[in-house]
Amino acid sequence: MAAGHQGPGAAGRRRLRHLQQAQGWFVAISVIGKEHFGTLDDGTKADIWTVSNGGITLKVLSYGGVVQTLDVPDRDGRTANVSLGFGDLGDYVTHSPYFGALIGRYGNRIAGGRFTLDGTAHQLPVNNGPNCLHGGDRGFDRRIWDVEPFTAGEDTGLALRRTSPDGEMGFPGTLEVEVVHTLTRGGAWRIDYTATTDRATVVNLTNHTYFNLAGEGSGSVHDHRVEIAAARYTPVDSDLIPTGRLAAVEGSPLDFRRPKAIGRDLRAAYRQIVLANGFDHNFVLDKGVTAEPEHVATVTDPASGRVLRIATTEPGVQFYTANFLDGSFAGTSGRVYRQGDAFCLETQHFPDSPNQPSFPSTVLRPGETYRTTTVHTFGTC
Ligand code: BGC
Repeated sequence: MAAGHQGPGAAGRRRLRHLQQAQGWFVAISVIGKEHFGTLDDGTKADIWTVSNGGITLKVLSYGGVVQTLDVPDRDGRTANVSLGFGDLGDYVTHSPYFGALIGRYGNRIAGGRFTLDGTAHQLPVNNGPNCLHGGDRGFDRRIWDVEPFTAGEDTGLALRRTSPDGEMGFPGTLEVEVVHTLTRGGAWRIDYTATTDRATVVNLTNHTYFNLAGEGSGSVHDHRVEIAAARYTPVDSDLIPTGRLAAVEGSPLDFRRPKAIGRDLRAAYRQIVLANGFDHNFVLDKGVTAEPEHVATVTDPASGRVLRIATTEPGVQFYTANFLDGSFAGTSGRVYRQGDAFCLETQHFPDSPNQPSFPSTVLRPGETYRTTTVHTFGTC
């Protein structure tokens, strides 16, 4: 019934389909394989890989580990791509605001691009005002990843691997990274991150999918309802660096402990909203760091009925309302993306943790394994 691992050679364009019968339902599990997506200026070829669990179809690029498409059914069984992206590699290279990207070595900002570890100062590239954002100007989102498809029991997926050399983007240590996307029969898209190092370093990996549960290119997500299990968040300064304080969401526009439409407080004259041009904040998840993924957020689109539930092992999530999309380019479906046309929920350790001793540590040492998991479960209402 279930197939074992399929090596990269076996993948090719060959279509592997296993019809599995479980509890009276037939579920189509398929690793559809890869196609050429584009060629970089230096001649490097980028592939697009497709996997499906019969409900969700996921397309991932070897370039940047980008989630290029995420097809999900609505309450009537109609499928739409709920992830903003591009149909052309050149768009990813020239102006992608990290659409769907695998983010590393460090998600979000490190103040001044500087940190000190075990008495040694490290300088990273500064690519966002005075700060380092998402691992620097050539972070993991701009690298070519090895991709291996697999089926395991009723699951199917893609394992992405890369060795980040010592000193890449200023980070110490050779980092061996594996990011595994799994589509499960239960309708979930799971991401497991692991990394090891040969020198003490800092690591904070995440995925930067911009979701629109009504379908990319369909307009704003202001009507989507969001719930985040966080009583506190990390307020930021004018460069979007955490002040170090953990503030209560109570009585503020950042209170998402009960479901709330994104648009309701998006234009509130509240200093944190003004500074970030909308929501762009790290929420301190009530559950903290956990060994197993625990539920932390739910987003519902009343129009399509699509529901996204997120569980994670991570202590934080960056809720970002695509504040910097300005209508200057079109996406996969050829329609222009504007401010508020998507939301991100980037599960993570807190921004600037290497400079904030009171935040959960992001230090990884030789002999340890960095291990985090985030599970996105799609349903309908
Ligand atoms: C950051 C935003 C940034 C966006 C795209 C988010 O993770 O918090 O400030 O604009 O990524 O780069």
